[in-house]
Amino acid sequence: MIRILTIIGARPQIIKAAAISRAVRQTFADRIEEHILHTGQHYDTNMSEVFFRELGIPEPDYNLHVGSGLHGEQTAKIIERLEQVLTATHYDGVIVYGDTNSTLAAAVAAAKMHVPVFHVEAGLRSFNMAMPEEQNRIVCDQLSSVLFAPTQTAVHNLLSEGFTMHDDAPAGGDNLTPRRHFANGKTQEVVLSGDVMYDNSMYFSSMADTKSDILERLQLTKRGFILTTIHRPANTDNAQKLRAIFEAILDIAGSYSLPIILPLHPRTRKMLPRQLTPDLLARVQACQQLRIIEPVSFFEIIRLEKNARVVMTDSGGVQKEAFFYGTPCVILRPETEWVEIVEAGAGILTDADYERIIAAYDQLANHEVHFPPLFGDGHAAENILTNILRYLA
Ligand code: UD1
Ligand code: UDP
Repeated sequence: MIRILTIIGARPQIIKAAAISRAVRQTFADRIEEHILHTGQHYDTNMSEVFFRELGIPEPDYNLHVGSGLHGEQTAKIIERLEQVLTATHYDGVIVYGDTNSTLAAAVAAAKMHVPVFHVEAGLRSFNMAMPEEQNRIVCDQLSSVLFAPTQTAVHNLLSEGFTMHDDAPAGGDNLTPRRHFANGKTQEVVLSGDVMYDNSMYFSSMADTKSDILERLQLTKRGFILTTIHRPANTDNAQKLRAIFEAILDIAGSYSLPIILPLHPRTRKMLPRQLTPDLLARVQACQQLRIIEPVSFFEIIRLEKNARVVMTDSGGVQKEAFFYGTPCVILRPETEWVEIVEAGAGILTDADYERIIAAYDQLANHEVHFPPLFGDGHAAENILTNILRYLA
């Protein structure tokens, strides 16, 4: 029996961990003992607890209660408190997810204590070093023992960062494995695992249809509304960009006469009165079509993503889930890590540019869009756990 610590902190990580935790319980319970550590980066009920309940994730064994703070402060608190946990209790490895400050801090704390780090969503790159997430994921990848790449693009990114192909593939494997060898005999390896978010989107899709009544509650019809989410600091912390996004939203709501549903991230809720002019804020508040609501649960967002005419978002997860469910997406960013979505024509990058947002919406709402299968077979979690067992054997 191996002992693994899953480390989560922010909303998307809790959701990703649901796939791993489910696979441990359903398939690997005789070989893997999983404990869960919540850093406390996200703490509101609708940013954290709701996902544990809804997705059936066991209560965390630890909560570091770090809360919000400046990057250094938040990261340092996690490192300090996690080090104490890893000192007191032996784990054979830690699983970290994505690219938040919780991911970075967990990778640093564990790697310094020579606890193997398994990085789920490795190899993604925006090539924009101004993003905190780009800094976090690059450092985390450097420190990880096994890098679980969700897409072929992520594997290619790692190959261009010093991993090379080796033919010492795992038993039964028929592919070359990208590895990096160090003088002390340690190795790092890359596994093309598929995407745990795709696992979840498939697993919970029909459950969401029966358990969420959000369409009925908000009186929405299939393809009769737009879903939008905004939370990236590049948008929320830049007044010009946030204003351009809201001007575009108001115009789209007006010209198409469609409801726009905006489950508002707490970062954005805090920034709206600071960044919008009083006139724009008043127009946003008065717009009948624009419905700003609290962050919604996973089942609720799934139903919204599946049924929206178009999704407009700067979220990594929401843009991908829109793709999984065959809904086109205006990507409110200058670039994306999920380049396949743009290459397939199912998403259009607009940055926070008023004209580009309007043009992309018109294009996606009025033309046929294709959604090729790109994100695995819905069993990424089992693939990841099989490879962790092999690595630790
Ligand atoms: C973090 C991640 C980002 C991820 C996002 C998912 C980093 C650097 N960023 O961004 O990559 O896309 O989570 O949602 O790790 N707040 C609350 N309640 C909460 C949580 C946050 O009110 O439960 C407010 C606080 O004012 C806080 C702000 O939101 O200062 C930002 O939270 P933080 O965790 O620092 O960053 P996110 O923008 O959520
Ligand atoms: N999500 C949710 N409720 C919301 C908004 C998002 O459950 O109100 C889910 C979404 O379906 C996805 C994840 O949260 O699985 C994405 O998180 P977020 O947009 O906060 O971060 P990112 O993916 O950009 O890191």
